[in-house]
Amino acid sequence: MSTVVHKPMLATVLGQRQERPPVWIMRQAGRYLPEYRETRKQAKNFLELCYTPELAVEVTLQPLRRFDLDASILFSDILVIPDALGQPVRFETGEGPILDPVDETSIDGLEKGRALDHLAPVLETVRRLRAAIKPEQTLIGFCGAPWTVATYMLGGRGSPDQWVARKFALQHPQAFAKLMDILVETSVDYLAAQFEAGADVVQLFESWALNLDDAAFALQVMEPNRRIVEGLRERIPNAPVIGFPRGAAGNLARYAAYTGVNVLGIDYATPLDFVRSALPNTLPVQGNLDPLRLVVGGEAMTSQVDRILGAFSDRPHIFNLGHGIVPETPIAHVEQLIARVKGR
Ligand code: CP3
Repeated sequence: MSTVVHKPMLATVLGQRQERPPVWIMRQAGRYLPEYRETRKQAKNFLELCYTPELAVEVTLQPLRRFDLDASILFSDILVIPDALGQPVRFETGEGPILDPVDETSIDGLEKGRALDHLAPVLETVRRLRAAIKPEQTLIGFCGAPWTVATYMLGGRGSPDQWVARKFALQHPQAFAKLMDILVETSVDYLAAQFEAGADVVQLFESWALNLDDAAFALQVMEPNRRIVEGLRERIPNAPVIGFPRGAAGNLARYAAYTGVNVLGIDYATPLDFVRSALPNTLPVQGNLDPLRLVVGGEAMTSQVDRILGAFSDRPHIFNLGHGIVPETPIAHVEQLIARVKGR
């Protein structure tokens, strides 16, 4: 006889409000943990950490050993996709990711056919995690959404305004469309493989959904995200998807409706009353504490945690930060945050 295990996070993704919201922390494995910094030394570089299942499983599990989290997120990076397509990515300390930018001709040289083979170690990590985590914990897979990944592929690095990629999309619409096609197809294959390896849900990180006018938002963000959700569900029926279009602001409601994501990730700059009025209360939301409040702790943190809990108490809500946790975060504050969300 099989017993059905209740996974509060997955249930919330599927639209069931919980008495207390489930909680996980964006970028929960990482440099704020001393044990992460130790394990990191065992790899030559950051991508080797992502491509070594033994180490990637270890760092994924580290936050789960310390904190009462409802979900585990695969340890990898959004930039493994360009790396897998034959555009090598390096991470330099203090600099972030660096790539040799693609242009309108070199886009044709991207090697879609080799991507999944290259990502096989990440899929092995997912399989091992499935076996390692508690049954009531939800396993989250992810990829970067096409526009966000393209900003790095075209710009060669992170930038405050995504100038190079935004200009490229306007100046070279056909080459840009080709790049989006490659990224959509590779992302569908990669996410479907993550489900097959044991992921319960996947998140699309659209971290650079800001700085776009409405036509660019439609073409560069909404359309590719919708194509991923649809393509994925042709392969994995009803595949649960969290969309996180950071900075989407006034475009949030139409992003949710158009793409068909199950859950909308909310960044910390989005007003709570706007979310309440603009989004149907049947739509699950995830977020949205400012990571800086977690750094400072105390009243600066607890007052806003309580406001978020109050604002979303009438809808399915997954508590999270409104962007990634930062390295200077005190571990004690993370413990206090989780206790507060769980009502302890
Ligand atoms: O959440 C998790 O614990 C899973 C792992 C994860 C990482 N990156 C590990 C990582 C996830 C989900 C990501 C997503 C990611 N990566 C995003 C989207 C989320 C967001 O923050 O907007 C983006 C834009 C990236 C690209 C990226 N990776 C940048 C810009 C950097 C450098 C900045 C930095 O924090 O150093 C990375 C490196 C990176 N990815 C680290 C980690 C733990 C730090 C690398 C190190 O250990 O030296």
